Amino acid sequence: MSENPSPVIGIICAIPDEIAQFGSAFKQEKVTSHGGFAFAEGELEGKHCILVEAGMGKVNAAVVATILAQEFACKSLLFSGVAGGLDPALGVGDVIVGKHLIQHDYGIINNGVTESYHPGHLPIFAPSERFGYYLDEGLASRIGTALEGFELPMLSAEAGGGEARTPKLQFGTILTGDQFVNCTATRNRLHNELGGQAVEMEGAAVAQVAERFGIDWIVVRSLSDLAGEESGMDFIKFLHETAAGAAIVLRRLIRVL
Ligand code: ADE
Repeated sequence: MSENPSPVIGIICAIPDEIAQFGSAFKQEKVTSHGGFAFAEGELEGKHCILVEAGMGKVNAAVVATILAQEFACKSLLFSGVAGGLDPALGVGDVIVGKHLIQHDYGIINNGVTESYHPGHLPIFAPSERFGYYLDEGLASRIGTALEGFELPMLSAEAGGGEARTPKLQFGTILTGDQFVNCTATRNRLHNELGGQAVEMEGAAVAQVAERFGIDWIVVRSLSDLAGEESGMDFIKFLHETAAGAAIVLRRLIRVL
């Protein structure tokens, strides 16, 4: 193991295609197993990192995030992966850095209508005094500086919606829930009611754990699909190409930690 004195950074992905994007840039030194998850320790961008594939969903993400904070004393938890796009202004391949993370499936259902609440709040009488997890302001400002003038590689014409184009890269609201969204009505509701740019299945659970441990979190998501009825097909078609975008941005952001 190298004698790298930098604070340990935990990097979580859900699926193999997301973690594979770090390739040989991640200099792996050793792997240990906790709770059946493989934690790979090594160096990325000159920083001491632990890279782990959590599997899909909030519980997997929370277990892995807790182990990273507790066992490995990580001072920040980063997530890199794909998401479904919700904002009509965005297309496949665009990348969102989460500024506000919401667990959209935590709350109450009244007469078939879902109302989301802050996790842990008793969702019956009053609205929660807070809603979701906000990116630390100092971190947001350093991320903004690190991404100034930064351009992602061009997307293929197929992913880019008919012509090769440079992906958009912006801050946004990311919604997390234990469902793959494959439904235009839900996509529209999540965008209109919660202002989400992207929907995925782990990010806000990582933010919740990081907040409990008083450590930083960053979630980066590239859009593999647009969460409508085509999303299952698009996810399979574009997963590999789009997952690269999130990993490239995350590698750039490691310098701000
Ligand atoms: N991750 C990638 N695409 C998604 C979608 N449509 N819904 C939830 N998570 C996703």
